[in-house]
Amino acid sequence: MASLTEKLTILLSEAFSVSGYDPGYGVVEVSNRPDLCQFQCNGALSAAKRYGTSPRQIAERVVAATGSKDIFLEMALAGPGFINLTLSDRYLSQHLDAVSGDSRLGCDPAATLLRIIVDYGGPNVAKPLHVGHLRAAIIGESLKRVCGFLGHVVWGDVHLGDWGLQMGLNIVELKRRRPDLPYFDERFSGPYPDTSPVTIADLEEMYPAVSERSKTDPETMDAARQATADLQNGRPGYRALWRHFHDVSVTDLNAHYATLNIHFDLWLGESDTQDRIPVLIERLKKEGHAYESEGALVVDVATPEDTRPIPPLMLVKSDGAVLYGTTDLATIDQRVRDYSPDLVLYVVDNRQSDHFHQVFTAAYKTGVAPHHTVLEHDGFGTMNGRDGKPFKTREGGVMKLKDLIRMVTDAAMERIAEIESVRGYSEAEKAEIALRVGVSALKYADLMNHRTKNYIFDLERFLSFEGRTGPYLLYTTVRIKSILRRAAERNMTPGPFLPPSGDLERELSLCLSEFPDTVRLSFETRAPNHLCDLAFRLATIYNRFYHEHHILNEENVNQRDSWLSLSRLTLNVLEKTLDLLGIETPERM
Ligand code: ARG
Repeated sequence: MASLTEKLTILLSEAFSVSGYDPGYGVVEVSNRPDLCQFQCNGALSAAKRYGTSPRQIAERVVAATGSKDIFLEMALAGPGFINLTLSDRYLSQHLDAVSGDSRLGCDPAATLLRIIVDYGGPNVAKPLHVGHLRAAIIGESLKRVCGFLGHVVWGDVHLGDWGLQMGLNIVELKRRRPDLPYFDERFSGPYPDTSPVTIADLEEMYPAVSERSKTDPETMDAARQATADLQNGRPGYRALWRHFHDVSVTDLNAHYATLNIHFDLWLGESDTQDRIPVLIERLKKEGHAYESEGALVVDVATPEDTRPIPPLMLVKSDGAVLYGTTDLATIDQRVRDYSPDLVLYVVDNRQSDHFHQVFTAAYKTGVAPHHTVLEHDGFGTMNGRDGKPFKTREGGVMKLKDLIRMVTDAAMERIAEIESVRGYSEAEKAEIALRVGVSALKYADLMNHRTKNYIFDLERFLSFEGRTGPYLLYTTVRIKSILRRAAERNMTPGPFLPPSGDLERELSLCLSEFPDTVRLSFETRAPNHLCDLAFRLATIYNRFYHEHHILNEENVNQRDSWLSLSRLTLNVLEKTLDLLGIETPERM
């Protein structure tokens, strides 16, 4: 079904057309002056330029030509030629009735369905996650859900960083500690052991140690580079060891992401391109795209439109190892072949924008990506500490995801312990509520800012049950659930929507009807913050409405049942909006 703004746009477009103007001018939007009207159409102003008439004259004709006048309480001309629209209460309640009977809450699938890959998360095997990875996972998960809800065919790919120098560093480190292992014996003819020689705890301890050492010890660095190249060139012991590092990390990552309600459809990574890389490189050489420069193989990606010098994309280093850009280019090649995507969204830190610029330019230039496949970097800012620098632990190190989750859920547990009703719940339920409250705090605080902005990590504020926070929204859903539960216990059932009984209810109805437009806006701008804003407004208006009316004690039964329907619809829209943000709500609190 069409949203309110779409229905009104259709109506006004017809009126423009009947009056002899291009129907494209009939776009209706939610009013930015809610004190004056609910919706507005500003098309007459732009039409005036094209038709050389005064905007007011056009607007007058359009208003006169608009049929179905009983839809409007008021249709007024304002200023130089704005058309201000206010709906009749009856029309509004009929619309809500239809929305509440629609399983998609009034939001139709997109008119053109696309095949979309969302590349997000991007953790590196055997290397700790940093807060940039957290943001990628949170924002990417939400964008993937929005794409899916609009009916697009979408795959979320974690794109593991599993083919770079960190693998070589870990190989070198393990060799130093356990030189006896068969992986390092070149004469060993297998089979290699099935169980991993390292645990995730080992890897987490090994990597920082060897990485630190390699900075001052050129021998370690050279050995790591050599091991990386050997691994990539197929040395069997290193491949077997790599597989263990990979599997141990993936098991661990999967568990942490699941805790955060983040789920990938594809667990592919840089290493999955290893078979395609030689073929790709051969082709690029043969076709003259790739050439040798100072021992390395590169592709020029500078174009006449560049406003600053863009260096060539390096494909193979002089030691034979491939790079981040090489695997990204080969991944595009693979995705095009296996998924024929119309759109690939790369949800990665802003600081990698030059990298993606180079890779995308190379992909189009060499024909790796067809021109109708849109490759798009949707960058984001950093989560900072109070000092304004990227968030770190108290000791100044990178915060591990595991520790961050624990810190947030512990703090959430303290918060919910203050709630009277929660005290009597089982420990398991308390833990579940604390997890949901904590995750909502983290995700909402991240998503409410436009993704390109930096923000400051402030757990105290994120976890507050008041203001623009995840916990406030969860609390509101729980409140509505409780009302509906108590109503059901007393055999009260939601009934037909009556026209709004007052301003607050009208405001709530209009806000509910914005859901489809907000979903589409979030998709079009790849920006879930619009959904955060809608959820907050819905919750605030509902809470005011709740305080103004004693729903369950209302004596007029039709009124009461209409309010129950309104409450149920608010809950459904709020929960769906939160679900699109990747936030789960508890049943009670
Ligand atoms: N592993 C990368 C990093 O840690 C992020 C990967 C992002 N995706 C991509 N296709 N390059 O920075």
